[in-house]
Amino acid sequence: RIAGPCGLVIFGVTGDLSRKKLMPAIYDLANRGLLPPGFALVGFARREWSHSDFTQVIHGSVKEHARTPFREEVWQQLAEGFRFVPGDFDDDGAFENLRKTLEELSAVRGTGGNYAFYLSIPPRFFPQVVQQLKKHGLAEAPGRSWRRVVVEKPFGHNLESARELNRILDEVFPPSAVFRIDHYLGKETVQNILALRFANELFEPIWNRSYVDHVQITMAEDIGIDGRAGYYDGIGAARDVIQNHLLQLLALTAMEEPVSFDADSLVAEKIKVLSAVTLPKDLARHTARGQYTRGWQGGVEVPGYLEEEGIPPDSRTETYAAIRLEIDTRRWAGVPWYLRTGKRLGRRVTEVAVVFQRAPHLPFSKTATTELGQNALVIRIQPDEGVTVRFGSKVPGTSMEVRDVTMDFAYGESFTESSPEAYERLLLDMLLGDPPLFPRHEEVELSWKILDPIEEFWAEHGAPDPYVAGTWGPASADAMLARDGRSWRRP
Ligand code: BG6
Repeated sequence: RIAGPCGLVIFGVTGDLSRKKLMPAIYDLANRGLLPPGFALVGFARREWSHSDFTQVIHGSVKEHARTPFREEVWQQLAEGFRFVPGDFDDDGAFENLRKTLEELSAVRGTGGNYAFYLSIPPRFFPQVVQQLKKHGLAEAPGRSWRRVVVEKPFGHNLESARELNRILDEVFPPSAVFRIDHYLGKETVQNILALRFANELFEPIWNRSYVDHVQITMAEDIGIDGRAGYYDGIGAARDVIQNHLLQLLALTAMEEPVSFDADSLVAEKIKVLSAVTLPKDLARHTARGQYTRGWQGGVEVPGYLEEEGIPPDSRTETYAAIRLEIDTRRWAGVPWYLRTGKRLGRRVTEVAVVFQRAPHLPFSKTATTELGQNALVIRIQPDEGVTVRFGSKVPGTSMEVRDVTMDFAYGESFTESSPEAYERLLLDMLLGDPPLFPRHEEVELSWKILDPIEEFWAEHGAPDPYVAGTWGPASADAMLARDGRSWRRP
């Protein structure tokens, strides 16, 4: 799978995402031989960078963040296709310049007039950029060439704004040309949920309400907001990652087997699950949100959210969110799905834990099973990628005592192949025009439909509960599970 000739235009190329993820991913793809000689990269941004400034920034970013070793000949070949176009998004001259640059690259580099436009910019600029592309004849593809547009989240901040964003894109690009990035879908371990479930006979028979007690999906981060006050404040944990990453994890874990792994079949199953998600009636009892206060992490004292640069001192943005959902289908009726995420938690870990019901009867003395928990299958998305199965085993000795043990699969031990970074996989798929790993607009809408009532409820119900940085979230989140007679896993 090698991409064909094309030019990739990144709007907002001076931003963090571009430096930390996109540029290194492009280099890694080139280094793995997955980009053709006729590939070109055009950066578009307001900053007045010269061509050599641009090349140097990419060089620095590749040296710092690329996964594969630096090879001079690969770099040289790639860098010959770099161009930088400075300008504002309302600047007709800059877009004319962009058009000419792409024409020039088509001639000297052989991009074949195929272009992908990556909008790594705040959504408020989408309408302008998309209209400019149209106005300057860049949106329509002549002959057999193609045009694609790539959009990063946030796909709006609620259902209404998501629809509006889509309308704007729809006016200029056909749905098949729009690629929405949810970088979790580019992760090997997330794709492995489908392999685990549908390539095996071991798990699927018990993957339902008859055996599963509940499911916990956790995305815990140890970092704070990482200098992203402008983006994060007012958005909060639920909109930042539950609406997209965690609901995608839920959909993949809960959905029925797709007819095939093509985009239409996958989306059809994801949509069925997301449409069947129901919210608890009493949101006060079954959701929790928090905001971190000053604390310690890895031996270092870290500021509270309200002390972070750029955060208003009375901000009510949550940095922790937990919600309980159910899925009204024959397979899942009555099984709670607990989703939680937070910044400045105990450690960085993302996992999907399917927790099974207790054995209906234990033919052991009471004291023999005090250290026996519930069976669980834990899909370790990151770090320490793999799968753990937890079950009871006899403790060696002369009495029948049972204790929990784990059986582990670790990517690092079982495979010698290295995993591509999520953005590498997604960029390559986009350049190939391969859509299965990109959420469709219908999924985005359904996710907002799930989240909107919760956000509205929170907005009316005061400030988030405080939790000390470096701990596992607010006491209200523990209370939320305790009400159901359960507790959060400590990964
Ligand atoms: C992004 C969120 O989508 O995912 C960030 O906006 C978050 O707030 C990041 O830090 C986490 O990604 P990963 O791949 O490190 O889990």
